[in-house]
Amino acid sequence: MTSYLLDVARNRNIEEYEKAGGYQGLGKALFMEPGQVVEEVKKSGLRGRGGAGFPTGMKWMFMASDPKSPRYIVCNADEGEPGTFKDKALIDKNPHVLLEGMAIAGHALMAGLGYIYLRAEYPEERGILEAALKEARAKGYLGENVMGSGKKFDIHVHMGAGAYICGEETALIDSLEGKRGQPRLKPPFPVNSGLWGMPTMVNNVETLSNLPFIMREGALRYAGIGDPSCPGNKLFPVSGHVERPGVYELPMGTPLREIIYEHAGGIKNGKALKAVIPGGISAPVLAPDQIDCPMDFVSVQKAGSMLGSGAVMVFDEDTCIVRVALRTLEFFEHESCGKCTPCREGTGWLKAILERIETKQGHGGDIQLLEDVCRNIAGNTFCPLGDGAASAALGFIRHFREEFTEHIRSGCRYHREQGQAQP
Ligand SMILES: Cc1cc2nc3c(=O)[nH]c(=O)nc-3n(C[C@H](O)[C@H](O)[C@H](O)COP(=O)(O)O)c2cc1C
Repeated sequence: MTSYLLDVARNRNIEEYEKAGGYQGLGKALFMEPGQVVEEVKKSGLRGRGGAGFPTGMKWMFMASDPKSPRYIVCNADEGEPGTFKDKALIDKNPHVLLEGMAIAGHALMAGLGYIYLRAEYPEERGILEAALKEARAKGYLGENVMGSGKKFDIHVHMGAGAYICGEETALIDSLEGKRGQPRLKPPFPVNSGLWGMPTMVNNVETLSNLPFIMREGALRYAGIGDPSCPGNKLFPVSGHVERPGVYELPMGTPLREIIYEHAGGIKNGKALKAVIPGGISAPVLAPDQIDCPMDFVSVQKAGSMLGSGAVMVFDEDTCIVRVALRTLEFFEHESCGKCTPCREGTGWLKAILERIETKQGHGGDIQLLEDVCRNIAGNTFCPLGDGAASAALGFIRHFREEFTEHIRSGCRYHREQGQAQP
């Protein structure tokens, strides 16, 4: 397998990155017309790694056809979702692949300036990026005359505002403009009216970092890696009850079982698997009999969940699922920006109902009530944060309904078995 994202830790240094073929993709792109680069990305089949899996080439075409300027490239490095730490790993190990990717996007979309909106809790990565930017400018890969092409492109790092919602692209743009980060109504989409009302491409760190390989090796080679419906390598951050938590770069479509049992070393202390969240906290949980699912956007959706960020969270047989559901909803309730009522009120209700179920104060109709609140949130919110909260809650109920019923009837078995007081 070709590793082109995390590859080698030594790539933090620009000379080593160049020796490994770094900045050749940018060189090739600069010899092409911007529209040809957009075509190449479209041909590669690259799909966005920020969560939704939207085809990158198509998104680029929407911006390419808008003549307004100035135009911007924004790298979404907010990474505020629990369980997701892949963009951090990528910046830590290989910052130049991201800078090169942004410069390629800048040429393709005729943008002169890029911003990296970096999670506030990543100060170390800020230092890594600033050092890499200095190196890239000194070598002429960024600046007034990129690689002697006469084209201008530079990048600024902007620290995030410490809120999950600021990872949502329109809230991110508001935050970048110095406003309170809250989602904007779409349309218009950022590709037409983004930063300061101008055409703006918001792409995830990992998405942009695929571009150097696509340009250097060609779209056809890229399209042949992994699953044909969504090709390329994918970063899978694995956490929870596994022997070897970490970030694994594997071809898209690698089975979930292989990720958990081969790469992450299996369940900790030889215990049995109880549940796995395959794509970050918004993705509905999967049961142990579903882990032969290939990890790509299409297959995970068919299994009733979503690939999202690819963050795999593993739970062993001793895990209380009601407690996991409660923790999940505590997160969503805390992070709901409050702009729209179904999300603001609904996440609060879901948390309150789960809290009483977990503390043996649940009522007979509480499971149906949870489902009803979820139905009233899903599809009725300003942005997908509320949808994520509802689908996560419904996933827990779908697979572990019995455990919820048992909690209402006789409290939390896990607390009794572990000799803990009922919370
Ligand atoms: C609440 C919320 C948080 C999000 N957080 C992130 C994030 O941290 N990083 C990210 O790339 N996308 C995040 N997204 C998705 C972005 O809105 C956007 O779709 C993405 O940056 C597009 O990049 P892509 O086309 O490269 O996938 C979030 C979406 C929502 C609704």
